[in-house]
Amino acid sequence: MFSYRHGFHAGNHADVLKHVVLVQLLAHMGAKDKPFSFVDTHAGAGSYSLASEFARKNAEFETGIARLWGQERLPAALAAYLEQVRAINRDGKLRFYPGSPQIALQMARPQDRLHFFELHSTESAVLQAYFSKADRRISVRAVDGFDALRSVLPPPSRRGLALIDPSYEDKADYGKVVAAMRDALKRFATGIYAIWYPTVQRDESHRLAGELQKLTEGDWLHAALKVSAPPADGLGLYGSGLFVFNPPWNLEAALGESMPLLARLLGQDGKGSFKLQFRQT
Ligand SMILES: C[S@@+](CC[C@H](N)C(=O)[O-])C[C@H]1O[C@@H](n2cnc3c(N)ncnc32)[C@H](O)[C@@H]1O
Repeated sequence: MFSYRHGFHAGNHADVLKHVVLVQLLAHMGAKDKPFSFVDTHAGAGSYSLASEFARKNAEFETGIARLWGQERLPAALAAYLEQVRAINRDGKLRFYPGSPQIALQMARPQDRLHFFELHSTESAVLQAYFSKADRRISVRAVDGFDALRSVLPPPSRRGLALIDPSYEDKADYGKVVAAMRDALKRFATGIYAIWYPTVQRDESHRLAGELQKLTEGDWLHAALKVSAPPADGLGLYGSGLFVFNPPWNLEAALGESMPLLARLLGQDGKGSFKLQFRQT
């Protein structure tokens, strides 16, 4: 069994980028009355205390969400993201960080459906306990998210958003992402899919966005943020990226406004940079 626990990383620069994009995608899904399904293939524990032993260990949130907290006059996408973080910190102090399930719960309407898959037994138990079984919109399953994705595609309403957010602790995850997406696009070509990946000194990480592009002739968007130069010891995360299949038409403009500021706020020693690429057919 793997050792990755998202609590160590909650609210870091990678979570910020991922959740800025996620909030935009959920807002797009919620703009029409018709129900949508949200699928989180690697859901984590749902939400996180920033005072916990996990979060305090490396205090990664201090170079992530803490650098945005309290900022004013932000571009719309960053303001919308901060509003979701504020929703679980009502007293104005940054004590909790919402994971993707919590953000989805906050943004879903009564008619929507939320599917959370999480393989780690401790995390999935937390998720099960946290998300009330009484909320019939939510299903939590302790299964392999790569396999389970196909079981919920296409969604009954034919409106669906999936977040694929593995830990990549096992380098086989890179290949599994590509295989899962190839299958998902066959089952439900018009879905919106957001794939997160880490920027690390590993060929697979640098190749992934290119391999995902090859799976579609449709629209895609790729946003990547580097927060520092590659570490001298060759190890560790120095940025991350999101690849989105079938992005909403306005996502590129929203990120175009936000990425320069994210690179400035989250960059370490002035080394922040970003890339934003897209294809609109
Ligand atoms: C990066 S974290 C998820 C964070 C979460 N999506 C968020 O944004 O708040 C990745 C999670 O995937 C879980 N995991 C690893 N392999 C998995 C698999 N094959 N299927 C489902 N979950 C898996 C890990 O236990 C970990 O909690």
